[in-house]
Amino acid sequence: MKKSKIYDVPASIAKEAYINTEKYHTLYKRSIENPDAFWAEQAKEFITWFTPWKSVQSGDFDTLDIRWFSGGKLNACYNCVDRHLKQRKDKIAIIWQGDDPNETLTLTYAELHEKINRFSNVLKNLGVKSGDRVCIYLPMVPEVAIAMLAVARIGAVHSVVFSAFSSDSLKTRILDADCKLLITADEGIRGGKTNPLKKQADKALEKCPNVKQVIVVKRTGGPVPWNKERDVWYHEALQQASSECPAEKLDADSPLFILYTSGSTGKPKGILHATGGYLVYAAITYKYVFNYQEKDIYWCTADIGWVTGHSYLIYGPLLNGATTLMFEGVPHYPTFSRFWEIVDKHQVTIFYTAPTAIRALHKQGDQWVKSTSRKSLKLLGTVGEPINPDAWEWYYRVIGDKRCPIVDTWWQTETGGILITPLPGATPLKPGSAGWPFFGISPDIVDEQGQSVEAGKTGNLIIKKPWPGLMKTIYGDQERFKETYFKTLPGNYLTGDSAERDEDGYFWITGRNDDIIKVSGHRIGSGEIEFILNSHPGIAESAAVAAPDEIKGNSIYAFVTTKSGVQPTQALEKELIQKVRDEIGAHAIIGTIQWAKDLPKTRSGKIMRRLLRKIASDELTDLGDTSTLADPGVVDDLIADKEKM
Ligand code: WT7
Repeated sequence: MKKSKIYDVPASIAKEAYINTEKYHTLYKRSIENPDAFWAEQAKEFITWFTPWKSVQSGDFDTLDIRWFSGGKLNACYNCVDRHLKQRKDKIAIIWQGDDPNETLTLTYAELHEKINRFSNVLKNLGVKSGDRVCIYLPMVPEVAIAMLAVARIGAVHSVVFSAFSSDSLKTRILDADCKLLITADEGIRGGKTNPLKKQADKALEKCPNVKQVIVVKRTGGPVPWNKERDVWYHEALQQASSECPAEKLDADSPLFILYTSGSTGKPKGILHATGGYLVYAAITYKYVFNYQEKDIYWCTADIGWVTGHSYLIYGPLLNGATTLMFEGVPHYPTFSRFWEIVDKHQVTIFYTAPTAIRALHKQGDQWVKSTSRKSLKLLGTVGEPINPDAWEWYYRVIGDKRCPIVDTWWQTETGGILITPLPGATPLKPGSAGWPFFGISPDIVDEQGQSVEAGKTGNLIIKKPWPGLMKTIYGDQERFKETYFKTLPGNYLTGDSAERDEDGYFWITGRNDDIIKVSGHRIGSGEIEFILNSHPGIAESAAVAAPDEIKGNSIYAFVTTKSGVQPTQALEKELIQKVRDEIGAHAIIGTIQWAKDLPKTRSGKIMRRLLRKIASDELTDLGDTSTLADPGVVDDLIADKEKM
C-alpha cells in the first residue's frame, strides 16, 4: 500500500475554495447517482446554447453510440469569446510571452473577437466549409488560438500538429484527416533557435494533393519558399477580410477537433472530440480543479500541440472568461529562472506544468528560484506523467513556498479533460497521488478478468460510465476505437494505465501498461519507433520499451537486431537515432540502443516485451513466468550483454 505524508488544505485556499471535503463527497455522490441532472446543470451554467438539448446523454459502453446534449445547438468559439463580450470585453483574454523576454503582447476579449471574425472570413473566402478539416502547424503564437477558434466558428474541424513534429509526421496527419487547408508560420522560435516550419510544411505537402491553400503567419521574417498559387500571408489576408462573421449554429454532437496521439501500433490515432460534451467538461474541470476566480492570471506551460494545450490553455480558460498566458519559449532560456521570472512579470496566480520540467529545474538548484518572488502564486498543477514525491515536495516547498496546493491531474488525450485530481480546498494532498475522481467519473482498478482489486493492489485503471469529455471516436476508424478501448474489458473504458488505490480512496497512477512510452510527458508508441528502425536496410528487427529516467520519467530503450553480415557499430547507432528523430520529430530521441543477437519470443513468435522492459530497467530479480519462451537462453544473453555496456 502506498503510504505518504498528508498535507491539509492551506488556509489561504480554504477561504476561497468552491468545494470543501464534505461538499465534494455530496456532489460526487449526486453526479454518479443522477448524472443527467448533474450534467444538465453544468451545461446550463457553462454554455450558451442557441437551441436547448433534448436529451442529456444517450448510449453506453456496450453500443458505443454515445451522445451528449443531443438536439442542442452551440458554437465553441461563441462560448469562448462572444459570450464574454458584455461583461469582459476589455479584460485580457490572452497574454502572450515571446521567447525573447522583452517581447510581450496582450489581446482583450474584444480584440480577440475581432481577429477571429476576420480570420473566419479569410477561411470562408478560401472555400473552407462546415465539416472540413483544417490542419494547424503553428508554434506558440497568439495566431494559433485565433486560428483554432476561427475554424471552430465556421464549423470546420481543427487538427493541430505539434510544431516539433517532422514533415513526415505532419504529412501522415494531414493525409489521415484529409485536411483541405494548412495554417503554418515562416519559422518558429524557441530557446533562441529557429525551426523552419514553412519549409517542413512544403515538404509534407508534396505528398498531400488535397491541400489547396496554405496560410502563413509571419513570425520571424526569415526567408521562406513561396508558392504563389497556393500560399497566402496571414497578415495580408486578415487586413482584407471583414470583421463580422456570425458563429455557425452547430449540433452538440458535431466534431470540434481531431488531435493525433500515439497508440500501441505504428499508426497514430486521430482522437476526435465532439463539441457539446467536450466543452462542458473542459469548462467545469477548469473552474473547480484550478479553483478559478475572475481575477486570476492563469498559465499552462503545455504546447498547443498536445491535448493539455487544447483543454487547459484555450478552451477551459476561455470558456470561463479567464486570462490565459501563452509562452513561446522553454524553461531554461535565457536562464533557469525563466518560468519564475514570467510568473513575477505577469503576476501569475495559477501555474500548470509537467513533472519533467519540475525535475529538470530542481536539478539546477534552488538559487534560480530564490532570485524570484513568486508571491502572486496561489495554486500549482502538474500533468502528463506520475510525479515522484521528491519533485512534488520541491515544487511545494521551494516554488510554492508551502502556500500553494498542488493539483496532480490525471487524464488523457482521449478523456478530453481531467478525470482524477485533488480539488483545492477539498482534498488533503498526498505527494505522488492524483487524488480522487472528478464529478461524474467512475474509475475502478481491476485485474485481467475485470474483477476489482482490493486497496493496495495494482491493476488496470478503467472508467465504468461515460462522461461528457470522452472522445467521440478515432477519426475514420470506429473499429479501432472499439478494439483499443472497449474490447479487453467489455462495457468499460480501458485507460491503458496501471494504478492502485489506497485505503482513503486516493488513486496512485503507476504508469502505462501497454506499449506507449511517456518521455518527458510526451506520448510515443513503441510501434512507431520500431517501424522506423525496421525500415532501415541493415536492421532485421527491433523492440522499443521504456526505461526509467531521472528527469524525463522514461527514456526510450531499443533492442535492435542487425541483418546477418551487418556490423552493429557506433556509426549505425547514431544513424538510427537520427532516423527516428527525423521521421517522428525532435521529441523522439532514443536514449539507449542495445544490440541483440535475438529477441525473446514466445513459441508462437510474439516478442515478450515484459521481459525487455525488465532488462532495460535493471529489474532482474523477478523476471516472472518465462516458461513460454521459445529459447530462454536469449534472455541470459541480453542480460550479459547489458552488463558489458
Ligand atoms: C497518459 C496520457 C493528460 C494530458 C497530457 C497527456 C499519463 C497523464 C498523469 C498524472 C500519472 C499521468 C498517463 C496517461 N498521465 N497525467 N497526473 N499522473 N500519469 O496526455 O499524451 O494522452 O497521455 O499520460 O499514462 O494515460 P496524453
